[in-house]
Amino acid sequence: MPNRDEKILVVGACGQIGVELTLQLRKIYGEGTVIASDLREEHQLLKGTGPYVSLDILNKETFHVLVLRYNITQVYLLAALLSATAEKNPLLAWNINMQSLLNVLDVAKEENLKKVYWPSSIAVFGPSSPKENTPQHTVIEPSTIYGITKFAGERWCEYYFNRYKVDVRSLRYPGLISYKSQPGGGTTDYAVEIFHDAVRHNHYTSFLNAGTFLPMMYMPDAIRATVELMQADASKIKVRSSYNIGAMSFSPAGIADEIKKHLPEFVIDYKKDNRQQIADSWPRSIDDSEAKNDWGWQPEYDLARMTADMLQNLKKGI
Ligand code: NAD
Ligand code: SER
Repeated sequence: MPNRDEKILVVGACGQIGVELTLQLRKIYGEGTVIASDLREEHQLLKGTGPYVSLDILNKETFHVLVLRYNITQVYLLAALLSATAEKNPLLAWNINMQSLLNVLDVAKEENLKKVYWPSSIAVFGPSSPKENTPQHTVIEPSTIYGITKFAGERWCEYYFNRYKVDVRSLRYPGLISYKSQPGGGTTDYAVEIFHDAVRHNHYTSFLNAGTFLPMMYMPDAIRATVELMQADASKIKVRSSYNIGAMSFSPAGIADEIKKHLPEFVIDYKKDNRQQIADSWPRSIDDSEAKNDWGWQPEYDLARMTADMLQNLKKGI
């Protein structure tokens, strides 16, 4: 049962995940309980749904004051630079992705916060990891700066849990597909753009090759996974770095075939760019059996169900 005494701060609430996660947390815990924050202006879909504050999470003092002022008990940290944007400025990505996490973990330790959520990514895996059904525990040698920050972040989470008992929990999200808010500069963004372009123009030019398989997930599953992980009894959380979670795996050609079942005129062509190299370094599919065994993870959306839902919702908006 949700505890009504919680006060939750979502950092990076105006991004692709933040908008939907904030709305869901407000549904569960009550709108006044969930404070949304971001560098950006408040997202249109958040307006009127609960409190919003402007916050640069790199400013530890401001963040600390906010935690005290609002009696925050849980922090969901979503601020980050994603894979493609991070490659354009590796040192900036390192600074944002690491310092944000260290600020949150350290204030969580100092103020004895009940829980922290921070997402990792399938990007922790690199070219030397097994490509198919990539296990929870395997060779992890990321070749992208984004993956390096996620791997380092996972080690910090485990360290703060073991050393200071900070109850920090994490998921290695696959590429996330959603229609409510736009993706923020990742390599898996093609799988969102393709739906928008299909509905508007019946045509999409993919920046990844036809046969590039990647692990993917529909946003409702990602939000549910996050909430279920955070609500699970602490004794069930055996992985304190970050859990593999999976739902589906497809390529640009595969998703195009599925879209054609609904839009027979749809045409895809291919013009790869530098994101191909990033995608080639990542797994093709993920083994999430530890998340399933430990806290009961089960995805609900496969490619067919997600495609039908995406197209139905995007058509409504036209
Ligand atoms: P996003 O880029 O859409 O959103 C990030 C938000 O953080 C933005 O609104 C941005 O304004 C905000 N932000 C950036 N710097 C900030 C700062 N200094 N202070 C406060 N806010 C700041 O990203 P997303 O897709 O919502 O991803 C959220 C988290 O999930 C990230 O850690 C990302 O690595 C992880 N993740 C996302 C995916 C995906 O497919 N979307 C997959 C795996 C992991
Ligand atoms: N979807 C993310 C990206 O492509 C993976 O973490 O960057």
